[in-house]
Parts: sequence; structure tokens; C-alpha cells
Amino acid sequence: MADRWVRLELDVATFDAQHFEKYVTRCRAEGIRLTTLADLRDTPEHRRALYELNKECSADIPERGEFYSFDEYAERRFAIASYDPRGVVIALDGEAWIGMAATSNHGDFVFNEMTGVRAGHRGRGISIAMKTFGMGFAKECGASKVRTFHHPANASAIAMNRRMGFVDATF
Ligand SMILES: CC(C)(COP(=O)(O)OP(=O)(O)OC[C@H]1O[C@@H](n2cnc3c(N)ncnc32)[C@H](O)[C@@H]1OP(=O)(O)O)[C@@H](O)C(=O)NCCC(=O)NCCS
Repeated sequence: MADRWVRLELDVATFDAQHFEKYVTRCRAEGIRLTTLADLRDTPEHRRALYELNKECSADIPERGEFYSFDEYAERRFAIASYDPRGVVIALDGEAWIGMAATSNHGDFVFNEMTGVRAGHRGRGISIAMKTFGMGFAKECGASKVRTFHHPANASAIAMNRRMGFVDATF
């Protein structure tokens, strides 16, 4: 499977922030709040809420299979040197967590671990708004690139990233 991944990369310096900030503005106008796990507080309850959101959204990833247990998820996502709650963007509709865009810090690049929007909220530009909001983290890290990879059948995720300017990469 590994050699079939679609590997994508975005150049932080040339990202068209001005254009994509409109998605952030539109989300806010529609009552969707964008924040980070750092600002919400990186508590056990919030980690569990992130897990539940990630689990629900991951069910729509082609060939994803059974999702991690909470303990496995915590080991892979939180107990790693590249984890930083400032890189975990959350979209809230009132008190409900409806979207996430989680990015980890790898020095010269940041890595998009997972982007997901609950099914009832898709198609409104929320993923692009979250990822645009998250570009601030890439800059804070001093990263020159944002990297991600997807299953080749994950058309919506690949299109979302290409829409933002991600291009094919060989990392
Ligand atoms: C991928 C996902 C995050 C997109 O979220 P979204 O908020 O609905 O996406 P947006 O409304 O911001 O759309 C952004 C762009 O993505 C593309 N896109 C989104 N949904 C699409 C679909 N069903 N088919 C094709 N392209 C799609 C489009 O290019 C769209 O831009 P446009 O409307 O200007 O054409 C969402 O479908 C999801 O949660 N999927 C399941 C989890 C997943 O696969 N995550 C990626 C793996 S990390």
C-alpha cells in the first residue's frame, strides 16, 4: 500500500493566505468558531473529544479499517515529540466539536496528521478554513512546507488539498 499514497506538499511562503482567509471569515460569519487544542486547554476530556471526532471522520477514509483504541491513539498522536496542541485546530458549532485539522511539528516541515469534518457540516469550506487557520502554526514552527499523504481513492481530501495549492511531492 505504502507506494500508492498520494503525497502532497504546500509551500508556506507562497501560500495565498489573503485568498483563503475568506474561508475563515465566512466560517465565523456562519457561527463556526475556529480555535486550537492549546487555547481550549489540552485536558484529558478534550483529548477524548478529539479522539471521538477523529474516529468518526476516519470512518470515511477509504480502506481505513478499524480505528485505534483511545490508548493507541494517545500513544501515536499525543506521546510523540512532534505533538503540539497549538497545531490542533478545532471547529466548534456552539459547544459541538464539528471539525479538526491536526498538524505535527517536524522542524523544516509540519505534517497534516488528520483533517476531518463531521458529515452534516461538509461542503461549506470548513476544512479549508481550519487548514488556513492552521498555517499560523506552520509559521510559528518556522516550517517551510506542509506535508500530507492520502489514500489514492480519497478524492475529497486530495481535492481539498489541491484547492489550497498543495502539489505532488516525493518525500
Ligand atoms: C475531506 C474533508 C475533510 C473535506 O471537508 P469539507 O469541509 O467538506 O471540505 P470543504 O467544504 O472545505 O471543501 C474544500 C474543497 O475540497 C474539495 N471537496 C470537498 N468535498 C469534496 C467531494 N465530496 N468531492 C470532491 N471534492 C471535494 C473541493 O475541492 C472543495 O473546494 P470547492 O468547494 O471550492 O471546490 C471531509 O470530506 C472529511 O472529513 N472526510 C473524511 C475524513 C478524511 O478523509 N480526511 C482526510 C484524511 S486526513
